[in-house]
Amino acid sequence: MPENSSLENLLTETRSFPPSPEFAAQANAKAAMYDEARADRLAFWAEQANDLLTWKTPFTQTLDWSDAPVARWFADGTLNAAYNAVDRHVEAGLGDRVAIHFEGEPGDTRTVTYADLQRDVSRAANAIAALGVESGDRVVIYLPMLVESVVAMLACARLGAPHSVVFGGFSADALRSRIADAEAKLVITADGGYRRGAPSALKPAVDEALEGEGAESVQHVLVVRRTGQDTAWTEGRDVWWDDALESADVRHEPVWVEAEHPLYILYTSGTTGKPKGILHTTGGYLTQAAFTHKNVFDLKAETDVYWCTADIGWVTGHSYVVYGPLINGATQLIYEGTPDTPHRGRWWELIEKYKVSILYTAPTAIRTCMKWGEDIPAKFDLSSLRVLGSVGEPINPEAWMWYRRVIGGDKAPIVDTWWQTETGAIMISPLPGVTATKPGSAQVPLPGIVADVVDDEAHSVPDGGGGYLVLSEPWPSMLRGIWGDLERYKDTYWSRFPGIYFAGDGAKKDDDGDIWLLGRVDDVMNVSGHRLSTTEIESALVSHEIVAEAAVVGAADETTGQAVVAFVILRGEHADKAATEDGSAEVQTALRNHVAKEIGPIAKPRRILVVPELPKTRSGKIMRRLLRDVAENRTVGDATTLADSSVMDLISAGLAGPA
Ligand code: WT7
Repeated sequence: MPENSSLENLLTETRSFPPSPEFAAQANAKAAMYDEARADRLAFWAEQANDLLTWKTPFTQTLDWSDAPVARWFADGTLNAAYNAVDRHVEAGLGDRVAIHFEGEPGDTRTVTYADLQRDVSRAANAIAALGVESGDRVVIYLPMLVESVVAMLACARLGAPHSVVFGGFSADALRSRIADAEAKLVITADGGYRRGAPSALKPAVDEALEGEGAESVQHVLVVRRTGQDTAWTEGRDVWWDDALESADVRHEPVWVEAEHPLYILYTSGTTGKPKGILHTTGGYLTQAAFTHKNVFDLKAETDVYWCTADIGWVTGHSYVVYGPLINGATQLIYEGTPDTPHRGRWWELIEKYKVSILYTAPTAIRTCMKWGEDIPAKFDLSSLRVLGSVGEPINPEAWMWYRRVIGGDKAPIVDTWWQTETGAIMISPLPGVTATKPGSAQVPLPGIVADVVDDEAHSVPDGGGGYLVLSEPWPSMLRGIWGDLERYKDTYWSRFPGIYFAGDGAKKDDDGDIWLLGRVDDVMNVSGHRLSTTEIESALVSHEIVAEAAVVGAADETTGQAVVAFVILRGEHADKAATEDGSAEVQTALRNHVAKEIGPIAKPRRILVVPELPKTRSGKIMRRLLRDVAENRTVGDATTLADSSVMDLISAGLAGPA
């Protein structure tokens, strides 16, 4: 189990906040949903699929699990995701409803109605089709947070062309490997975006990615003009988004696809060096995204202003910026930039300005704001907020209480939502208006979801016990596999405990049977709610010429949850050089920049420690647990299984010195 000191107080937390009668009376969620789903889980999901989505051809079968672990939900139904997210709202007379309030980092704004979205998505679909993209072709989207990012995703969905969004903070190398794995035909990007008060270029990374080997599948690059900065151009390949859309027809007939048609691939870090392309399909994914968005956030589409602060580069942006909210006809805010530009009250200023009523963000952001001080949010009127959400990592009770008191005015319910890129949508969370919330716990599987905490033998642990989080029954928005690698899908999630899904998280049940998430139990780190693989960063480090060996651990960090700490053995004379103060600084910079180039700035180690040896077992496995002790300044634990037990002394002695 991960040792994370900020989590220790989770286990003694006993506070509980029952819903107010006023909130409960108006809540979308009802306690009866649990009973209904328990009585007939499949009928429950079929009802949601019919209530929340518009089908071109209705489905007759709910779940086909005969090819487990690859599920087929609503398989004989047909529909289109973009039609459900946009057109049907316009057809229902809601064309004038604001879909997106956009606020750029420099302060420029745009208001986009559902009718505007319908025109833009249709034109974009026509433009993308004109570039040769057909149903089934993959499109990589590498964009900042813009209205065009949402339009681009929906345009692909409209064509039945699975999108693969790559977070704008990933490097050219990371982008290339994803383009290559997905064999994308088209890349959609921008000249740049605004970040911390300045334009930050994106297109050069695409150019670099396409120069390298493996990206030959790409025929065109569609470029959104955002910053107006100088942009290198490859004639015949590159096309400006505005030009392509201008000449495109504003009408487009959606491509009706089967429910199991791939909607998107999203790459995420696993325990090996190679990112996994998580595959999501259409009908089941949209059903659960819409159901959870409506009930976990208590969305009232006519009156709420919803804001999820996630980037579209992550699954949260897919399910809770694009598909969930738009399927439900919500009005939402999209903000391009960082929370502290031009000042540390920017988020709270936006909430006041747009009267945001539902806020969904990550614990790391909450802890950062705590650090900046509560006098900053106190300057703004946050009284519009009525539901607060948290996602991405365990939220410590202290941050939870601060969120509730300072941001939620001591009354807005907090929903701590546990899920993963693989699950596609929220799985474990309180339901506002129903559940009495507990600071630090995601608590209960949603209606229609079956989760458990089990021991090494897959036995359910009793209340009060701890173990591994598993999902015991298939769910509509579950991944359908890893792109191009069915075996890895089976291995990673279904081999640890045959027949049940292994999530990779440690968890505990309290005396009421509520679930508390404790962090990853594999070699996956969680830094600011972003998933990073220790192995991937180790591979990046050893690909640098001066590094002989590397070991990476996630060390507990007060703000970011975990921080990347790397231990490296340097080659030959580089080790001596690193022993001097200047040399050490130089090595640190070179290696941190190298990781940024290989993966992206988010993966840069916070600290790099040069060591003479790494602690290994007799079979050669690195004992990261011991390195974590060093990184977290603890007394080093039991080292008796090491091949050479003096290694830890050597490491500790070296670290006390100049390096
Ligand atoms: C991992 C999934 C889900 C969207 C963002 C992250 C951790 C996520 C919680 C939570 C405790 C959480 C888990 C999970 N996680 N939400 N509410 N409490 N841990 O998606 O990158 O696929 O990461 O994030 O460790 O396995 P992801």
